[in-house]
Amino acid sequence: MAKTVKNFVCQNCGAVTSRWAGKCESCGEWNTIAEEAPREALPKGVSGGKGGRRIEFVDLKGTSAPPPRRGTGIGELDRVCGGGLVAGSAILVGGDPGIGKSTLLLQAVGALAARGTSCVYVTGEEAVDQVRLRAARLGLTNANVQLAAATSVRDIVASLDANPAPDVVVIDSIQTMYTDAVDSAPGTVTQVRSAAQELIRIAKRRGFVVFLVGHVTKEGTLAGPRVLEHMVDTVLYFEGDRGHQFRILRAVKNRFGATDEIGVFAMTDAGLTEVANPSALFLAERRGNVSGSCVFAGIEGSRPVLVEIQALVAPSVLGTPRRAAVGWDSGRLNMIIAVLETRCGLALGGNDIYLNVAGGLRIAEPAADLAVATALVSSLSGESVPADAVVFGEIGLSGEVRAVAQRDLRLKEAAKLGFHQAWVPRQSPKAQDIKAQDIKSGDSETAAKRDGLVIKSIGHVQDVVAKFTDALEPGRRTERTATPNASSKRTAS
Ligand code: TYD
Ligand code: MG
Repeated sequence: MAKTVKNFVCQNCGAVTSRWAGKCESCGEWNTIAEEAPREALPKGVSGGKGGRRIEFVDLKGTSAPPPRRGTGIGELDRVCGGGLVAGSAILVGGDPGIGKSTLLLQAVGALAARGTSCVYVTGEEAVDQVRLRAARLGLTNANVQLAAATSVRDIVASLDANPAPDVVVIDSIQTMYTDAVDSAPGTVTQVRSAAQELIRIAKRRGFVVFLVGHVTKEGTLAGPRVLEHMVDTVLYFEGDRGHQFRILRAVKNRFGATDEIGVFAMTDAGLTEVANPSALFLAERRGNVSGSCVFAGIEGSRPVLVEIQALVAPSVLGTPRRAAVGWDSGRLNMIIAVLETRCGLALGGNDIYLNVAGGLRIAEPAADLAVATALVSSLSGESVPADAVVFGEIGLSGEVRAVAQRDLRLKEAAKLGFHQAWVPRQSPKAQDIKAQDIKSGDSETAAKRDGLVIKSIGHVQDVVAKFTDALEPGRRTERTATPNASSKRTAS
């Protein structure tokens, strides 16, 4: 006979243990383990497959047509979903509270309804009137969207199973849903998981697209349901700084398309508007000729995005200088500071260092290393990076600059936006464009011209530091030798 087992579930990662513990063995978080309703243990073994039905195996080879896509009418959303919505798929939309998830999905169903798609919007957080008010603000009063305020999954499933089934369903949010099949409180891992399971099952069975809204915790993970990410087909994160206008929709998992694709929106008083040319937007407020500012030519998904990286190197009054990075990994920042200190002899130990990616974009590419180093050296020296230069390249621990992917795409975007020079990693001779005409050739820095862009190949971070050396005040540069008082030695620049 099946026996019941006690169930302790980590509310952070979903790991299940049989005993309570202060710290989750699986994710290392403290105080996240909570007792949840006991679940029926599966009977052990399946006794040699007796009573099982034979499944049919098919060949891997053979062709299947790509799934048909339903365009939402919001180009940036379609792009992130891989070109439109696939029938029967489940899409999780995560993001901080107040970032605009409900707004985005209400606009999406509004646009879908305008194209004749039957849409249902189920809200568990707001009253119907609140949603109506927002729809009025978004100019969607005439949209043919069915609205309901409900939290019981049983009721929702029963209503959606009616004929005809809708094409697109939004559940806002999954944390407010509960199913009476399990005993835990709404928002707990067990509840969220079973509620999502029920909703995904009916979406697959009836062939509609289900959007599940999920909140993100302070730590930046989807509250509780990391487990949800495995269950859905697509995971989208809606991110951005609430103080900023820009919002970025990022695909982190997509069974029907590429990941790391982004869609860029601006939050206005009439809702979210699409931003077709993000580079122009991210550079809009840039002021040229300011030290510590450098334009990075990045790639987000399949498209190049130019952003400004700002650094501030200030003398510290604290014993332990502050290091802070917004939009960039602070561990990576520390690595670059260490490389600049050790390989280029810059003394940064007594400075507070702040790094900011302008516009609220978050960059994960190591290709931004060189731009970060350039911004740091520029701020330290007080000399500005040429306003018409873009920079990209990965930095290794010995200070060498490594090649990065999609070089041509980055250069093309820079040329399109009117930049005149690019500081880029050196290419291996094989890959070098034969048509590019060499105009200068140094030991580790070469320059060539292409597309109206002067390409300056950087072999080592020192080449960047050398560009600012004249402006680096004496004492900033130190020669690293084995002597203990090495930092007091000055070098002529
Ligand atoms: P919302 O979609 O409710 O966020 P979420 O569902 O992710 O919690 O977004 C609410 C925020 O968006 C709120 O702070 C106000 C802002 N907003 C606008 O600036 N313009 C608008 O037209 C709308 C509808 C909201
Ligand atoms: Mg909301």
